[in-house]
Amino acid sequence: MRPSVLGSAMRPSASPLVSRISLLSRPSHSSRRCLSHQATATPVQPTRPISQLLKWKPDEKVNDVVVHGYVRSVRGMKAWRFVSLGDGSSLDPLQAVVESGLAEGLTVGAAVRLTGSWVASPGAAQSHELQVREVKVLGPSDAKTFPIQKKYQTPEYLRTMPHLRPRTPLNALLLRLRSEAVTSLTQFFAHQSFVQTHPPIITSSDCEGAGEVFTLNPASEAAEQPDKGNADAQNSFFRSNKYLTVSTQLHLEALAQSVGSVWTLSPVFRAEQSDTSRHLSEFYMLEAEVSFVDDMNSVMDLAENMLRQLSTDLYQSDTVKSLLTRTPHFGQDLAPADEVSRRWEGLMQPNWPRITYTEAIDILKQHEDRFEHKPVWGAGLQSEHEKFIALAVGKDRPVFVTEYPRDIKAFYMRPTQGSGSEDFSRVTVDCFDLLVPELCEIAGGSMREHQLEPLLDIMTRQGIIKSPSETASENDSGNGLQWYADLRRWGCPPHGGFGLGFDRLLSYLSGVQTVRDIVSFPRWYGRCDC
Ligand code: 4AD
Ligand code: MG
Repeated sequence: MRPSVLGSAMRPSASPLVSRISLLSRPSHSSRRCLSHQATATPVQPTRPISQLLKWKPDEKVNDVVVHGYVRSVRGMKAWRFVSLGDGSSLDPLQAVVESGLAEGLTVGAAVRLTGSWVASPGAAQSHELQVREVKVLGPSDAKTFPIQKKYQTPEYLRTMPHLRPRTPLNALLLRLRSEAVTSLTQFFAHQSFVQTHPPIITSSDCEGAGEVFTLNPASEAAEQPDKGNADAQNSFFRSNKYLTVSTQLHLEALAQSVGSVWTLSPVFRAEQSDTSRHLSEFYMLEAEVSFVDDMNSVMDLAENMLRQLSTDLYQSDTVKSLLTRTPHFGQDLAPADEVSRRWEGLMQPNWPRITYTEAIDILKQHEDRFEHKPVWGAGLQSEHEKFIALAVGKDRPVFVTEYPRDIKAFYMRPTQGSGSEDFSRVTVDCFDLLVPELCEIAGGSMREHQLEPLLDIMTRQGIIKSPSETASENDSGNGLQWYADLRRWGCPPHGGFGLGFDRLLSYLSGVQTVRDIVSFPRWYGRCDC
């Protein structure tokens, strides 16, 4: 009996897998076409992921099961080879038993198609195994030079080959976690009637005003005029300086004035020279902008509900269950499983604490001897302060810290009503940081200043524009924010939103100790390998 391609005409049956197998002997039109284009006798076969096969435990032997995957290891016996096969869908491999005569080319790393019988296994390590009758090596591998090995390899070593690292079981698991998180978040926002949008990556301004933008220039211009400065910007590709976005917030605000509340999950770029386990130069930020909202509690509710939904959706999934197992392959690279469980359960808890920055400083001052940096009202919270607050106030729950001093926050934030109107330096803004232990800040958000005059006023005070009249003119001084002020001229309702560091969240929830290992191709200060 020869396996064939399955068409869409799969017959309904109690078990989709059984129905697939029952059709294996019926050559379809597409399989004939496929055969005619292939030198091989076995046609391309849509197969089940190994994760699904491993859960399938029929009492009877089932013939003609086809599996695609990569050889993780081969244990040799004289007459038989025991091949451990993975396809990125599960931590556990599938065991294939292959007669030595068929085993040529079954080397570590090879991409293969194995066809055989799915039978109960006599071995203790697995319930079923594939007794192989046909081997097709689809992508050979030179096992002697293949750098990924079944034994433990350090994260530092694996980071030197980001193009191969995703093939390790742990990194495949992290990719699946990312994918499932995006699915859950997409559903969450769809249910809340948010519109998913695609704001631009190339921008004309530094949204956060922190000077951490990468400037964008065509390679040809750089080669022609290596010393070109700002003065020549008008002759450049875009006729003025452009940057990679540090946050899509400003554009999201424009879109929110069109279709109501919006969200995006976009790559953002920051030229921070921070060589820490929390900083990347390129990372994904989930940003949401809520229209017609006046109370910042609603924005914090949204962030809290979103993360609670995400953790509730995923906690019982196979992916998270696998993350909570500890195999020798993981080494000490992940935080302890009970710690990681606590993080998930913390996110699932209701009523996350909300304290003001001023209250946080008061708490910190009571313990100031333990800090390297003394807590001072008016200065930013150091990561040691954030960690302390997260642990002391939140315990296992994340903590919102609100109303920071205006002087240490971005220009677009709305002042807290009645906060120190006499003394400018005491003014606070309606903003929040969301803190978790270990990782500190995972999200930041605020109400936006939606009125024109106060916005121009603060932009002038912060030196973004020379005077309030400047952005009204055609001649934006180069900060590229005229359009942002314009939004306030025509129908700008109160609004607010937040940005969540998606990679930080995933490393927190997976127990991966640095964001460099949660991203497939990490870029950070001094490193961008491929
Ligand atoms: O706090 P941030 O700078 O907020 C903003 O950019 C707002 N404009 C977002 C908004 O309101 N729409 O960045 C948001 C989050 C941080 O809380 C942090 O989790 C993450 O982005 N983040 C980084 N993650 C990895 N590497 C970096 N270098 C990061 N910088 C910020
Ligand atoms: Mg922040």
